[in-house]
Amino acid sequence: MTKNELKQWIAELPKVELHLHIEGSLEPELMMTLAKKHQVALPYANIEEVKAAYDFNNLQSFLDLYYLGASVLKEEDDFYQLMWNYLLKCKEDNVVHVEIMFDPQTHTERGIGFDVFMPGFKRAIEQAEQQWGQSCLLIMSFLRHLPEQSAIETLEAATPYLGDITAVGLDSGELGNPPEKFTQVFEMAKSLGLKRVAHAGEEGPADYVWGALNALDVHRIDHGVRSIEDPELIEFLIQSQHPLTVCPLSNTKLKVFNHMQEHNVLQLLDLGLMATINADDPSYFGGYLNENFYALIEHLPVEKHHLQQLVKNSFNASFMPAAQKQQWLAKINSD
Ligand code: ADE
Ligand code: ZN
Repeated sequence: MTKNELKQWIAELPKVELHLHIEGSLEPELMMTLAKKHQVALPYANIEEVKAAYDFNNLQSFLDLYYLGASVLKEEDDFYQLMWNYLLKCKEDNVVHVEIMFDPQTHTERGIGFDVFMPGFKRAIEQAEQQWGQSCLLIMSFLRHLPEQSAIETLEAATPYLGDITAVGLDSGELGNPPEKFTQVFEMAKSLGLKRVAHAGEEGPADYVWGALNALDVHRIDHGVRSIEDPELIEFLIQSQHPLTVCPLSNTKLKVFNHMQEHNVLQLLDLGLMATINADDPSYFGGYLNENFYALIEHLPVEKHHLQQLVKNSFNASFMPAAQKQQWLAKINSD
């Protein structure tokens, strides 16, 4: 198949996204509209200036703008619109199932509570389920640059909404904030029946991946590309089949890899790790899920069987019910 044929084939294939921050899908247009609506002062005069600012040299330089951008989200309807816009992208990209992360502390720290953002998210999700059968779960992520006590308070504040939350996650600045810092809150989440994921081995070392596996008992590692630096860890991940939710455009934008040609996702896949492809923060990193696949097709020696395996992996790595999983996998296998 030519590159163009591969791109068309992957675009049409039903897919899953497992690593997507809803606050990272805030497009500059909605950001400027909401800034005007709520009279939030942003250091940008127009959409072009917002886009020009998205030139990052590491994770923190991105996070500074990501938290600034999120400050325009204030009312239930803002959160609805944010979620709705992303779910429309899912429809366009044939992302039939998605597990969406949200960062409560980014909003509660500004005095905006679960009673504001959860109904907004839920209204959009229910509408997409009804209109085109979108499948969608939520992952509540804790900010690792804040103390564990703040994460515990967040878990407690989420009590009335736990029926709508499938898993907890861990994100924000990785270096200096190892997974072990959050052992207690992840134990609490586990005892509440919540699944667990954590960012690890993005900017942080392979040791943080061990930390997420051993101290937090995670089902999946978000990113995990630096696992390659530890042969014992690679062997463990091949055996255990803990999924890695890899985000190619994010990794090149944040200089985890200098160029897509240097990205190790195909190497991880060929070694037998359960790698998946995801967009992370699509509005900041230059593309939604299909664009991430296109970047791999453009810059790496990707063949159809790689793409098929990556997509099968994300169905298998998802938290969707087993029967739903089997139905989709049968469809992918017949393609
Ligand atoms: N929050 C949003 N995107 C993130 C990423 N790629 N790493 C850590 N925290 C994040
Ligand atoms: Zn992420």
